[in-house]
Amino acid sequence: MVHVKSAYWQNVIEEAQKHPAVPGLEKIPFFSMAPMEAVTDSVFRRVVAHAGGPDVYFTEFTNARSITHPKAKFSAQVRLHVAENEKMPIAQIWGNRKIDFETASQDLKEHGYQALDINMGCPSGTIIKNGGGSDMIRHFDDAAAVIAGAKTAGLPVSVKTRLGFNQLETFETWIPFLLEQDIPLLTVHVRSRKEMSKVPAHYEYIDRLVELRDQIAPNTLLQINGDIKDRAAGLELVRQHPGVDGIMIGRGIFENPFAFEDVPREHTLEETLSLLRMQLDLYDQFNAAYGPLNFRKLRRFFKIYVRHFNYASDLRIALMESNSTAEARELLDHFDQQAAAYATEQEIAIAPEE
Ligand SMILES: Cc1cc2nc3c(=O)[nH]c(=O)nc-3n(C[C@H](O)[C@H](O)[C@H](O)COP(=O)(O)O)c2cc1C
Repeated sequence: MVHVKSAYWQNVIEEAQKHPAVPGLEKIPFFSMAPMEAVTDSVFRRVVAHAGGPDVYFTEFTNARSITHPKAKFSAQVRLHVAENEKMPIAQIWGNRKIDFETASQDLKEHGYQALDINMGCPSGTIIKNGGGSDMIRHFDDAAAVIAGAKTAGLPVSVKTRLGFNQLETFETWIPFLLEQDIPLLTVHVRSRKEMSKVPAHYEYIDRLVELRDQIAPNTLLQINGDIKDRAAGLELVRQHPGVDGIMIGRGIFENPFAFEDVPREHTLEETLSLLRMQLDLYDQFNAAYGPLNFRKLRRFFKIYVRHFNYASDLRIALMESNSTAEARELLDHFDQQAAAYATEQEIAIAPEE
C-alpha cells in the first residue's frame, strides 16, 4: 500500500474506497477524467459529473505563463473557470520556465486550486517548439526546474507524461528521473510522443513501471492512461497489474458519457439527451459570462449523446448542422414530440379491441 505524503492525494485514495467493493481487488483504484484541451472545461466536467463522474478531474492544459500575463490572462481564466457547484479540478499547466510555474502556482492557489499537474506529454508541434509538453522528455533539467517552481506555492504537484519522446525505452531513464522529484502522483500515458495515439497503448510496460515506483518512490502514486474505455476496463487492468493506484480515462467518455458509473447499465436515449440539454444550458451560462464562444466547438459533443441509437441518426445529422443552442433545443423538442406521437400510435395499435 502506498503511503502518500500529500493530504490531498491521501483523501482521493480514501474517497475511492467508498465505491462498491470489487472482487479480487484489495484496494479500489481512483479514477480520473483525462485533461483534454477544448473538452474538459467547466461545462463538460459538470455534465460528466451528472452522469456518474470520476473521483478526480483535470482542467484542459493552460500555459503557465499565460496565467499571470496581462494580455493572456483572460483566456487563461476561461480555461481555468470552476463553477461553484462543481468538484474542484486539478489545474494542468504547461511551459518550460521555472519562474512561470512559480507565479502560476501562487495565482492558482489564490484561486482555490488544491493541486497542480504539469503536462510533460503533449505531442503537439506548437507546444514542443515552445519547450513544453513532451519536449520535457528531452530536457530533464527543465523538467526538474518547472516541478520545483510549481511546488513553491505549497500545493501538491503531479506530472503527466509519456514513456518516451521517440523511443519507448527512454522510460527506463525518464520515469526514474521523475520519480526522484518527490511528486505525489505520476501519470503515464503508455505510449511514446512519436506514436501519438496511433498504436495500442503499451500495457506490457505497466509492471515495470510499478517496479520502478516501488524501488525509487514508494510514496508516489502511479496512474495509468491510454485506451481505457470505462471503469470496468480500468478495474480489470488493475486486477492484471497490481500496484497501479489510479486509472485515467480520456476518449472513452466520447463513446460513453456514463463511462465512470460504478455499475454499468444500458441508458435510454432520453437519458443521454437530457445530458445534452444540460450541456446546452451550461454552455449558454458560460457563453453569457465569457462569450462569445465558438458554437462549432460545441457541435462535436453532440455525437457523444446520440451515437448508439441508429433510429436517431436523422437527429444526430441535424444537430451536427445546427448553428445555435436555440436551434439544437428546437431539434430536440421536435424529436421528443415525434417520439411521443410514435409511442401513442404504438399504444393505439396494440390496444385490445373493444
Ligand atoms: C481532444 C484531446 C485533447 C487533449 N488535451 C490534453 C491536454 O490538454 N492535456 C493533456 O495532458 N493531455 C491531453 N490529451 C491527451 C489525453 O489526456 C490522454 O492522455 C489521451 O487521450 C490518451 O488517453 P485515452 O486513450 O483514454 O484517450 C488530449 C487528448 C484529446 C483526445
